[in-house]
Amino acid sequence: MRRKIIAGAATLLAAVGTFTFVVTRAEAATQTLQSLAAAGGRYFGSATDNPELTDTAYTAILGGGEFGQTTPGNAMKWDTIEPTQGTFNYTKGDAVVTFAQAHNLKVRGHTLVWHNQLPGWVSALPAAQLQAALENHITQEATHYKGKVFAWDVVNEPFNDDGTFRTSPFYNAMGSDYIADAFRTARAADPDAKLYINDYNTDGQGAKADAMYNLVKSLKAAGVPIDGVGFQAHLAIQYGFPTNMQANLQRFADLGVDVAITELDVRMVLPRDSAKDATQATYYNNVVKACVAVTRCVGITIWDYTDKYSWVPSTFSGQGAALPWDENLVKKPTAYDAIVTGLGGTVQSPSASVTSAGPSPSKSASSSPPAAGACTATYKIVGSWPGGFQGEVSVTGKAGWTVRWTFANGQTISQLWGGTLSQSGSAVTVTPASWNNTPPATFGFLASWNGTNALPTVACS
Ligand code: G3I
Repeated sequence: MRRKIIAGAATLLAAVGTFTFVVTRAEAATQTLQSLAAAGGRYFGSATDNPELTDTAYTAILGGGEFGQTTPGNAMKWDTIEPTQGTFNYTKGDAVVTFAQAHNLKVRGHTLVWHNQLPGWVSALPAAQLQAALENHITQEATHYKGKVFAWDVVNEPFNDDGTFRTSPFYNAMGSDYIADAFRTARAADPDAKLYINDYNTDGQGAKADAMYNLVKSLKAAGVPIDGVGFQAHLAIQYGFPTNMQANLQRFADLGVDVAITELDVRMVLPRDSAKDATQATYYNNVVKACVAVTRCVGITIWDYTDKYSWVPSTFSGQGAALPWDENLVKKPTAYDAIVTGLGGTVQSPSASVTSAGPSPSKSASSSPPAAGACTATYKIVGSWPGGFQGEVSVTGKAGWTVRWTFANGQTISQLWGGTLSQSGSAVTVTPASWNNTPPATFGFLASWNGTNALPTVACS
């Protein structure tokens, strides 16, 4: 009898064990921004800051699997770490590292040398003492975080927008040699960390990007230990998308360095509306696709994930709504889904911020299976609310596709991303955006509806 009970318990344990395994596997398979990026060998991260780490709703998302990397937005800057000369305070930086380690987030160190958030004592030093102060700061901080950060923004924002070197206490004292000196000092302190130079408005080709390109080329030629270039990508929909971003990233990679998108956000003039959200989504999609298309683009970091903690409104009056989660920590269906599709994922369910008041979001309609050299399009309503809905069409098959359908109930598309729209009355024709020519491709749109929102019959040719 006793043997039977033990045998029964063993069977039960085995069953429980199997069940637990299956649940774990199912959880691991959940699609997140990080899981999609990791499938391509990249990370997807979010900046964070110390005050936010007490917001449990916020930390639940930051550490909940969407992200695989974080950057402290302020905690490792000079004024925080060495507010008075020779006195180092790592409390805030350590708090970010502790959170990151507990939630499986890699940490990018930001930043060792920057003209901003620099304590007054540095600017007040005689020029002859600047080099020693710079080297001591880098050595102390990079040694403290050795093994805890995988990369450092060693030098941040060295250029003016016209491509000239920015004046700073370091530049004034040492000329542009402070840059090479900073990299050599950082390498000596932490030989394993990837060492980056980082700037904004270098995302697309132009004078500032050219200046950065020439600098990195000359640093490499001189044997300076530089491993990567960070492109901040603080974008604004009212200023247009950076010129030839993918080609720009690629030319840096061709110098033999990694590249990374380090501080991505896409701001707009407030208030938000569906058209601005759609444009913003296009920008997010374009940035992600530019990175994914460049083998040496190692990862993407958004500059915090929620509008609740964005730096934008306090810097640019009347602007904001720059991040994929809104101020209530709700995912924006547009921006979030645009990142997902940019990373090669498919939108799996309606985003939480959409009130479902129309057809079931899971409804979809596909064109006929493709013959050789043809294509298939699947039309899906991913979210719907009174008067409006978001649709998405995924295309498989041949490059150079054209998708057509006819709306039966007067629906009208207001914005479309990932393709070029032509709507004439109820007849819709969509051809691919230049970067979206080759399937699997996805495009999305916002449209109006009233009364009935029937799924159309889609054709792909
Ligand atoms: O800590 C003080 C606090 O004691 C004081 O009461 C408060 C009053 O305004 O200011 C607090 O400091 C603020 C600091 O963030 C910490 O919250 C500063 O005013 C504020 O200017 C500072 O803004 C940071 C900004 O860099 C400074 O340039 C942003 O949070 C941070 O996100 C932003 O990050 C930069 C990157 O490092 C480099 N690239 C551009 C990016 C955006 O500006």
